[in-house]
Amino acid sequence: MVLLSGPNICGNEWKYVKECLDTGWVSSVGAYVDQFEKMTAAYAGTPYAVATSSGTTALHTCLIIEGVQSGDLVITQNITFVATLNSICYTGARAVLIDVDPDSWQMNLDLLEKFLDEETEQRGDKCFHKASGKRIPVIMPVHVLGNMCDMDRLVNLATTHHLTIIEDSTEALGSCYKGKHAGSFGKMGTFSYNGNKIITTGGGGMIVTSDEKVAKRAKHLSTQAKSDPFEYFHDEIGYNYRLVNMAAAMGVAQMEQLPNFLLRKKEIIAFYKQALQGIGDISFQEVDADVNPNWWMPTIKTNKQAEILKKLNEEKLQSRPFWIPMNQLPMFIEDLYYHQNDCSDFIYRNCLSIPCSTYISDSEMQKVVDVIKSVF
Ligand SMILES: Cc1ncc(COP(=O)(O)O)c(C=O)c1O
Repeated sequence: MVLLSGPNICGNEWKYVKECLDTGWVSSVGAYVDQFEKMTAAYAGTPYAVATSSGTTALHTCLIIEGVQSGDLVITQNITFVATLNSICYTGARAVLIDVDPDSWQMNLDLLEKFLDEETEQRGDKCFHKASGKRIPVIMPVHVLGNMCDMDRLVNLATTHHLTIIEDSTEALGSCYKGKHAGSFGKMGTFSYNGNKIITTGGGGMIVTSDEKVAKRAKHLSTQAKSDPFEYFHDEIGYNYRLVNMAAAMGVAQMEQLPNFLLRKKEIIAFYKQALQGIGDISFQEVDADVNPNWWMPTIKTNKQAEILKKLNEEKLQSRPFWIPMNQLPMFIEDLYYHQNDCSDFIYRNCLSIPCSTYISDSEMQKVVDVIKSVF
């Protein structure tokens, strides 16, 4: 089986994890947690990073820090992985779903602007949804597949409407807009180290921020809000959301290889584009000139999606459809979906992701290409 996006464990992972096992530093504190946080902060260009047990718990922690609560609305987009919306719902808030751009598959900023101008009002330095009267404290853009939208415009819209940006940059480690890293545009950004991501710790996440107070609060909340170093005094409801040292050891080893993984992802997308562009109606995700994406997961758009998916998977070339749009899931069907042409549905019905592990061989990619071509 050629995996869609498998972990590439070819550096110091064994050495660093063995060190944890040999020394007994396997659990929730240890030098690798600190090192992994420092490496990530330096890489993302943010002074602070706080490791968490997953990307989902990173998002949830950020929302708690920003005071998002029951009765609030959080703006996000209709094409994303369900964890974005789950993290919002954990706080008791609900999502406003903005449709995505048909070419970049990121949040459609024309629609966002229209929504903000027509459907919201500012009261002091707060944003409210006119129809429901609900507060909208946060916007959570998702950098889908490691691509990014026009971040200057998004930041400007958020600022003028008093919205705090929490970036769901879980898929975008290594992606940049005008040379600035994904995750560093908002008050907080997040990464995921789930097994299919560009680097993995088996499972894990990270919050990045330039705000020291936010970093301290994130550490506090994610470690059961214990406020006394000796006594078990906890000063608020906390969470067991920390990353264990053994996973962080793997993270450090993976971070050492990130530059090579990014280069390989660029080779993979170049291979597929060269071989598939111009075949039938196939097109690729469009990327703005200001964006340098990590090309985490090459995904093609074609009206032969179903047929290609069937054939690739029959040939054990693991391929997947795009996420079902959030407004079509039973839990979110009642949430506000702001759109004009429901591009999300079109993207869902026409896109598929193809094998792209950083260790994939050129001959395996050629097999993928041959199967896809055979359908046309
Ligand atoms: C867009 C998006 N948001 C959130 C998450 C959640 O991350 P995790 O699986 O580490 O909880 C993921 C990935 O799995 C994701 O792709």
